[in-house]
Amino acid sequence: MTVSTHLQTKTIENFIDGKFCPSSTNQTFADINPANGETIAQVASGNSTDIDAAVSAAKHAFDKGPWSTWSIKQRAQVLRKIGDLILENKELLAKAETIDTGKPISESLNGDIPRAAYNFHFFADYANSLQEECYTVDKNERHIGVYEPLGVCGLITPWNLPLYLATWKIAPCLVMGNTCVLKPAEWTPYTAYLFAHIIKEAELPDGVFNIVQGFGPNSAGEALTRHADVASISFTGETSTGKAIMTAAASTLKKLSFELGGKGANIIFDDADLDEAIPVAVNAAFRNQGQICLAGSRLFVQEKVYNKVVEAILDKVKHIAVGDPLDPKTQMGAIISNEQLEKIQSYIEHGKKEGKLQIGGTRLKEYPKGNFLTPAVFTDLANSSRLCQEEIFGPVLPIVPFKDEAEVIEMTNSTKYGLSSSIWSQDINRCHRVSQAIKTGIVWINCWFARDLRTPFGGQKQSGIGREGGKHSLEFFSEQKTICYRYKNK
Ligand code: NAI
Ligand code: MG
Repeated sequence: MTVSTHLQTKTIENFIDGKFCPSSTNQTFADINPANGETIAQVASGNSTDIDAAVSAAKHAFDKGPWSTWSIKQRAQVLRKIGDLILENKELLAKAETIDTGKPISESLNGDIPRAAYNFHFFADYANSLQEECYTVDKNERHIGVYEPLGVCGLITPWNLPLYLATWKIAPCLVMGNTCVLKPAEWTPYTAYLFAHIIKEAELPDGVFNIVQGFGPNSAGEALTRHADVASISFTGETSTGKAIMTAAASTLKKLSFELGGKGANIIFDDADLDEAIPVAVNAAFRNQGQICLAGSRLFVQEKVYNKVVEAILDKVKHIAVGDPLDPKTQMGAIISNEQLEKIQSYIEHGKKEGKLQIGGTRLKEYPKGNFLTPAVFTDLANSSRLCQEEIFGPVLPIVPFKDEAEVIEMTNSTKYGLSSSIWSQDINRCHRVSQAIKTGIVWINCWFARDLRTPFGGQKQSGIGREGGKHSLEFFSEQKTICYRYKNK
């Protein structure tokens, strides 16, 4: 197996021009398992010299081909092989993802890693059906819109869904004929490193895919965004980081795609099927320890059913199994870092002053070296409170009552974010009305987290710029050119 020999690795290196290498300064940092505080490996601390080397390899690979000159069909065959190899190594990749992030193994195994494989299979198929536009003015004149690759693309990814989100960018980037440099999150370098071994086995030409590990500001991430030979940055992460990247990318006028933070509203009307809505509301708030941009991190419940829903939620939350991420029965694992844990705890302390902590919010005594926190539910908080307005990115759920449609629409739209929301009601007309009035990129009706990869994915307001998914990703990773043909009619 490709990956198994590397699972015991003690060093996670950069991957440049088809070779694994340390950083130019030989500096490293520790990758920590958040469940027990142990060091998984030492990671190459990439810097601007490493970015220069990776971009230069990617540029060379792009300029000399053959990757950039192959047909989509030829490239799609390599993508399919990469997807297959991810599936072949599913258990090992899932274990690595869980050790690195602290997420439950059931999620890595059934969610993150299969989706990473599917990202390649999906874009292999989808790109093959990409249609060019052609307008025939008269029989002598045709205008054709063609897709061409951009060149070297920079991909910068977060720690909450490491391989899932990296491959969501890598697959469309590569299938359109680009080459790229990936800068994974410093907290989760592991599966990207293992993935590079898969890339080698799939025989992607050297230099087409490169990784520089390391940090963001004044380091590898920033160097990538400033590099003159990088045509675009596709970034997923915090809204504040998106703003820094936009500033840094301005001098070279890069194409930008931003998937940023969220403060998803989950809205339960009094005519909802509560047996369906309640378990999903709990999952939406606490899945992946609440570290999902699409989390339903504010629960709005109509007054008539408010007490009943709060009681049922608390009952469910009491039974969530928090603990060892490698135990298949675990439902909530560890928080990514001590830093993030402290940030969440400070929100909990703040919430206790403004509202009522009903349950949770405590560390697990059994794991003194792990970043475990029990799921916290608050009531009696105003929607204007910090816990309802700011992205906590942790297992903290405020439940707030509302009177009517108008009030809940206003409450939902009150944050600076606009990524996702869910509506629970059996009245289809109401669902339709409310979904139109809500300013989020996705509105789920009687569900949460459902996705068809062809649809546009992204945020309104400060949750993002642009859309990923299907043709939206392929267009982002392309130059679209119009070629106008005039024929001589003889
Ligand atoms: P982050 O913004 O701290 O870091 C993300 C990446 O950006 C990392 O690789 C980091 O090293 C890099 N980075 C940081 N500063 C940089 C700079 N100045 N220049 C270039 N690169 C820089 O985000 P984090 O904490 O890793 O992830 C959590 C955030 O991601 C949350 O806000 C969450 O909502 C958001 N997110 C959004 C998603 C979406 O699809 N809208 C999906 C998943 C997460
Ligand atoms: Mg880690």
